[in-house]
Amino acid sequence: MAGRFDTRVERSADGGAAAVALLAAGEVVALPTETVYGLAADALDPVACARIFEAKDRPLSDPLIVHVPSRDWLEEVAEVSETAALLAERFWPGPLTLVLPRRKIIPDIVTAGQGTVAVRMSAHPVFQAVLRAFGRPVAAPSANRFGRISPTSAADVIAELGGRIPLVVDGGPCAHGIESTIVLVRGTGLHILRSGPVTAGELTAFGTVSGGVAGISAPGGLASHYAPRTPLVIGDSADVPSNAGLLSWRSVGAGFARVERLSENQDLREAAANLYGAMRRLDTAGLDVIVAEPVPEDGLGAAIMERLRKAAAR
Ligand code: TXA
Ligand code: MG
Repeated sequence: MAGRFDTRVERSADGGAAAVALLAAGEVVALPTETVYGLAADALDPVACARIFEAKDRPLSDPLIVHVPSRDWLEEVAEVSETAALLAERFWPGPLTLVLPRRKIIPDIVTAGQGTVAVRMSAHPVFQAVLRAFGRPVAAPSANRFGRISPTSAADVIAELGGRIPLVVDGGPCAHGIESTIVLVRGTGLHILRSGPVTAGELTAFGTVSGGVAGISAPGGLASHYAPRTPLVIGDSADVPSNAGLLSWRSVGAGFARVERLSENQDLREAAANLYGAMRRLDTAGLDVIVAEPVPEDGLGAAIMERLRKAAAR
C-alpha cells in the first residue's frame, strides 16, 4: 500500500473541491478538524472505508467515528435519546463524540460489527464546507498510522501518511490539538470512553458522569496509543537521564539535551494544543528517552494525562 500516491497538499480553497471529488470517487482524503487532522472516506461506502484501515495499518476491530454534515443527520445514523439530543444541542458542532445505538445505514466495517456507532459534527470551517458539498457523512479517524501520534498540522499528516493517500487539505494548525471527548450515552449515564476538550465537569449537567464501562473501551481498547518511537516516561525534571528530552509543564529543564515547553504560563488549553507537536519534535531529535512532566489532572489536564499515560505504555 505505501508509496502508491504522490500525496498533494492543498490550501483550503483549492483543496476543498478536490476533496469532495475524491470522496465521491470512493477515495480517502485528509482534512483538518478543530481537534486533529482526520482521514476521511464516505461513511456509507464500505469499500471506501476499507481504504482508511489500509492507509493507517489499522486493525479492523477498531471502529471509526462518523462525522455528520449537519445535526439532522444524527437520527439517520443512530438512535437518539433525549439526553443525546441535549448533548448535541449544547456541544455541536464541536469536540464531542457520542456513542449511540447504530442504525443499519452504517456499514459494519465502520462500527467493527458493534451495535453502537460513534458520531460527531466538526466545527472546522473547511471540514464543514467539504461535508456540506459532499452531502453525506464521512468516517474519519485521526490521520496517523495506527497507534502513533495524531497529526495537528498538514506537515504531520505527510510525516504519517505521505505516499499512502492522494490529498491533504491544509487548514493550518488544529485549535484544540487533542482528539474529541468520547461519551457513551446509556439512559442518563454518561460514560467517558476518552477524555478530551469537553471536560467531565461540563457534562455533569446532562447526566451521571463516569469513566469507561467494563468491556467497552476507546480508542482501540489498547493501553499503548499516541506513542512516539522514542521511549517516553512520566517523571520529574530533577532526574536527568543522559541524552534525554523534556516535555515540560513548568521547568526550564536544565541539563536536558532538548526541552519543549507545553505552555509558558501553565495554560492547559495551550498545553493541549502544543502537546502532539512537541512530542513529535522530541521524537525526531535523536534522543534516547523523553521525560514528560505531569500536568494537574483537572479539566483538560485529565485529557492530557490520559494521552501521556498511553504514550508511556509499551
Ligand atoms: O477528534 C477526533 O475524534 C478525531 C477527529 C479526526 O475527528 N478522530 C479520532 O478518531 O480521534 P480515532 O479513530 O483516531 O479515535 C476514535 C476512537 C477509536 O479508536 C475507537 O476505539 C473509538 O473511537 N470508537 C469508535 N467507535 C466506537 C464505538 N462504537 N464504541 C466505542 N468506541 C468507539
Ligand atoms: Mg486515532
